[in-house]
Amino acid sequence: MKKITLIFIISMLITSCNQELKNVSEVTGLVTEKAMVVSARVEASKIGTEILKKGGNAFDAMMATELALAVSYPVAGNIGGGGFMVYRKNDGEIGALDYREKAPLAASKDMYLDTEGNIIKGKSTSGATAVGVPGTIAGVFKAQKKFGVLSVQEILAPIIALARKGVVVTKKQEKRILRHKKAFKKVNKDSIIFLKHWKEGDTIKYIALANTLERILKNGRDEFYKGETSKKLAKFIQNNGGIITEEDLGKYEAKWRTPITFTYDNLKITSMSPPSSGGVCLAQIMNGIEPYDLQAYGHNSVKAMQVITEAERRAYADRSYFLGDPDFVSIPKDTLISKSYSKNRMQSFSFDKPTASKDVSHGSVEIVESMETTHYSIVDQYGNAVSVTTTLNGGYGSKLYSSELGFFLNNEMDDFSSKPGEPNMFGLIGAKANEIAPEKRMLSSMTPTIVEKNGKLWMVVGTPGGSTIITSVLQTILNVHEFKMGMQESVNQPRFHHQWLPDMIMIEPNQFNKNVINELRSIGYTIDERNSRIIGKVDAILVLKNGKLEAGADPRGDDTAIGF
Ligand code: GLY
Repeated sequence: MKKITLIFIISMLITSCNQELKNVSEVTGLVTEKAMVVSARVEASKIGTEILKKGGNAFDAMMATELALAVSYPVAGNIGGGGFMVYRKNDGEIGALDYREKAPLAASKDMYLDTEGNIIKGKSTSGATAVGVPGTIAGVFKAQKKFGVLSVQEILAPIIALARKGVVVTKKQEKRILRHKKAFKKVNKDSIIFLKHWKEGDTIKYIALANTLERILKNGRDEFYKGETSKKLAKFIQNNGGIITEEDLGKYEAKWRTPITFTYDNLKITSMSPPSSGGVCLAQIMNGIEPYDLQAYGHNSVKAMQVITEAERRAYADRSYFLGDPDFVSIPKDTLISKSYSKNRMQSFSFDKPTASKDVSHGSVEIVESMETTHYSIVDQYGNAVSVTTTLNGGYGSKLYSSELGFFLNNEMDDFSSKPGEPNMFGLIGAKANEIAPEKRMLSSMTPTIVEKNGKLWMVVGTPGGSTIITSVLQTILNVHEFKMGMQESVNQPRFHHQWLPDMIMIEPNQFNKNVINELRSIGYTIDERNSRIIGKVDAILVLKNGKLEAGADPRGDDTAIGF
């Protein structure tokens, strides 16, 4: 008996020693004392951090980081697109800002259909006809005006300087530009700077964008919506066959929204509300899996993947049926995010076999958008946090680039359902709640999220990735909360995704345990290992137990954390 007790004590000591070691090795991301910006480009994280060092707060850094991404990361950073911000101030106040693009006044339900009612290929995805009224400038000005402490001059000056000095091309960017060249040629009447053969190490100067930003600095937010820029922009879009007018630009407003909040164990999660599906869908999935002991099943184990997949299947089945612009459709939000609703939805789940997506009703239809959005997370030295996801939709949006103004226009109109029941360019099927109407905002998957633990700021997280945004944010939170990883370690993990339709688990190739894949297949799941190079590019910040901040900057991109 004594011997057994001794063995037990020794093994407990070894376990706790291993646990200690693991805890030390978990911290693999940049750790800073007080403040941090994590974004898709080093230049943007650096400018955001400099603004914080000058005494600015997270909202000043938000404006700086967003606009620095517009210069340094033109594939998704933008002033020709839109986005969402979720914030938590140091006093615990939370909120959300919607600067999503919207449909122009002349838009109509059937604008992408031919006379036979079929979708006209490319019209909602490429060129001027695909462009929604941009929201980014309205968004950054609204956030900074309400909460910022620095002058716009102080914030914009380094960004304009960066645009004039130029940005060095990375290997990933070289490949990206090459990949899109054919589309740039097809869409643009004249040559654009991105048609030059840019190689890694070259410097691209963005003089036209610097001039536009300078006018915005001089004349404020209205320069983009009511000034010279708006006139030039409307004319440019119309000359290329689009329907956006000066009136559309003049009427654009960013909107404060009440974010989605819900709990998971001892966490309180705040995420984006409609017109993004992100927060509602994340709440439904997390409510669905909360009763299961994921930690006991193990990270990316068969059982954990089954539970997560089945919760995702059910949540995504509801997504496009119920969700759209809340100013146009009524959404049963409180029901959808209630614990009891998800509990009922999970009642048909069994570990013995998958639920067939065709048997999951209302739920209805599903959605997927581009991988080429971008996310940044900020915590300032005062304890404020912002989580922002911004996009042009596709990589370089509609590919339409105004050489005079220096930026790409979005192709966000494709995030509407052009024809209920038909998939969009990313395979997502839309429903009536998301049909096109003048001045309506298109449904999004963007999921900027802030998590509190025991009432204190704990994590700031988000990612690009179209419909995989929601499930990437989910896995990042679960990796830390359930599987006790550090922030960077969590971000580095291979990801998987299920979105109801198509009925398959998409996994990042060559990263999952073969036995797990085989077992899932033998239970009846279809695994797609080929069609996804990567799932998400998460940029996140974790507040460690000692109050320091740990970054998770996704190695899948050029993402970088900087702070102090
Ligand atoms: N266009 C990507 C999204 O809004 O989710």
